[in-house]
Amino acid sequence: QPVPGFASRVVRWQRAHGRHSLPWQQTRDPYRVWLSEVMLQQTQVTTVLGYYAKFLERFPDVTALSAADIDDVFSLWSGLGYYSRARNLHRCAQEVMLKHGGAFPRSAQELQTLPGIGRSTAAAIAAFCFDERIAILDGNVKRVLARVLAFDADLATATNEKLLWSQAQALVPARKDDMPAYTQGLMDLGATVCLARSPSCLLCPLHSQCGAAAAGKQENYPVKTRK
Ligand code: ADE
Ligand code: SF4
Repeated sequence: QPVPGFASRVVRWQRAHGRHSLPWQQTRDPYRVWLSEVMLQQTQVTTVLGYYAKFLERFPDVTALSAADIDDVFSLWSGLGYYSRARNLHRCAQEVMLKHGGAFPRSAQELQTLPGIGRSTAAAIAAFCFDERIAILDGNVKRVLARVLAFDADLATATNEKLLWSQAQALVPARKDDMPAYTQGLMDLGATVCLARSPSCLLCPLHSQCGAAAAGKQENYPVKTRK
């Protein structure tokens, strides 16, 4: 299902109206990007900011984190919740040292084999740090894509979720260099424009191509029965 100009609209909008000052946007270091993406999996940006700075002060690189006492990792994580993330963070650092010689792998496929790195987190790291042409699909991005595509299938089923992943992959930019702005642009649209309730469609670069907006049914997407 092609959406003409989709990627270039997202990229142009991100460059003009997206977020550019978040600390993890000031680097292509996969360690820093990985840490931010794991923290942001279940925690709001404003909360993550303080934890992120403190964490990097104590553990500036993967070598330092891999050598840490797990209790020191938990201390720095205290308050963020979902503590399995902290355990996996430590395990992941150790695996990067032992299995990858201290360098994060450079493809989403390999990144996804590491503890705590799921498909979307792997794709985000690969797109931001290595310009890989690979789709992300976190909760916010699912909402944006489901609306633009007027994706009527229930995302609670694995088959339909895979279908949306394949549509997401078909929409990525042709040019690798556009992947960081594109990936951040989808995240930014989901966080600032295409809100779950009362999305700001008049400010959206995808308004003229959005199936949900054309039908006036924005809040009917994404379709999700369970959960
Ligand atoms: N949520 C997940 N990844 C993010 C990022 N890179 N910037 C802002 N919010 C995010
Ligand atoms: Fe979301 Fe509205 Fe943009 Fe469609 S037009 S993607 S519903 S903000």
